[in-house]
Amino acid sequence: MKKVILTGDRPTGRLHIGHYVGSLKRRVELQNTKEFDRIYIMIADAQALTDNFEHPEKVRSNILEVALDYLACGLDPKKVCMFVQSAVPELTEITFYYMNLVTLSRLERNPTVKAEIQMRGFETSIPVGFVNYPISQAADITAFKATTVPVGEDQLPMIEQTREIVRKFNAIYGETLVEPEGVLSKNAACLRLPGTDGKAKMSKSLGNCIYLADDAEEVRKKVMSMYTDPDHLRVSDPGKLEGNTVFTYLDAFCRDEHFARYLPEYENLDALKNHYRAGGLGDVKVKKFLNRVLEEELEPIRTRRLEYAGRIEEVYEMLKQNSIEARREAADTLERMKAAMKINYFEDADFLKDWNARG
Ligand code: TRP
Repeated sequence: MKKVILTGDRPTGRLHIGHYVGSLKRRVELQNTKEFDRIYIMIADAQALTDNFEHPEKVRSNILEVALDYLACGLDPKKVCMFVQSAVPELTEITFYYMNLVTLSRLERNPTVKAEIQMRGFETSIPVGFVNYPISQAADITAFKATTVPVGEDQLPMIEQTREIVRKFNAIYGETLVEPEGVLSKNAACLRLPGTDGKAKMSKSLGNCIYLADDAEEVRKKVMSMYTDPDHLRVSDPGKLEGNTVFTYLDAFCRDEHFARYLPEYENLDALKNHYRAGGLGDVKVKKFLNRVLEEELEPIRTRRLEYAGRIEEVYEMLKQNSIEARREAADTLERMKAAMKINYFEDADFLKDWNARG
């Protein structure tokens, strides 16, 4: 069987370093393993509209931002098919047939959807399109016959739901769809990078994100004002690592060689942590180190982003052409589905024959 990746993001804002360590970095690694027959990266604008339907201009203005973030991270347009969801209308049709295979209570039990309903205050009146988005996500994944879906942790319930839909479809209509698997980052700190304020998640509305498009000075300012251990008042005080954002970021980003380059008095992160815990190590020193570690990772991303931004017409054309390719693939899956369901009347030579042969 072919190995295929499909994944994507909602274009509701620029991507931040939480997206980067949580999933983007892994996508680039997977791209470079050459193990995959095809890689699709989707800008999920239709899904973004499920909770931003009143603000299509917000989605519109982030299509190219997200494309630039993808390219900046090292996703290579020669190796991956980067496309826009709404340019593939077959996805909607596939969704429509999947809707028969899922109950409302199953959708409402999806933990990510549940949390999002609460966050948006939708409890009393949930838009149908919103509660339906896991089904539409199953269409995204299966339309491309994806075997592998690299995502952040919060997306695992969507993949589970997709697998259920695939099994049900195949059981009812015959073996047609491919059952996908999710792939997470191997580093626990990367799974859910907290905001710079120590809050559980980076979110644009909380203003606690470091964006891939931030310049060096913005990143430095955000790092220097990051949440640490509120009880670590004097340098000599012992410090706490739990819930200390600076150390969580170091867990996510730093490697032993960074110490040799920027902080040679420590051998590795464990040595730095031990000193912090014992007391005698100030936050400023750790933050400056983190800033250099981040800079090493972010500087090339920023440079590449600027390069691509200078050739935006090419990026636009690339998205357009890739959306045509993506559409072809989704149409092929839809055709197979309709054949399995025997609702492909006008492609089916047996359709009239069956009618005429009926007793
Ligand atoms: N739900 C994903 C997000 O919140 C975006 C997305 C839409 C997606 N369709 C997908 C991710 C299919 C992986 C596979 O960012």
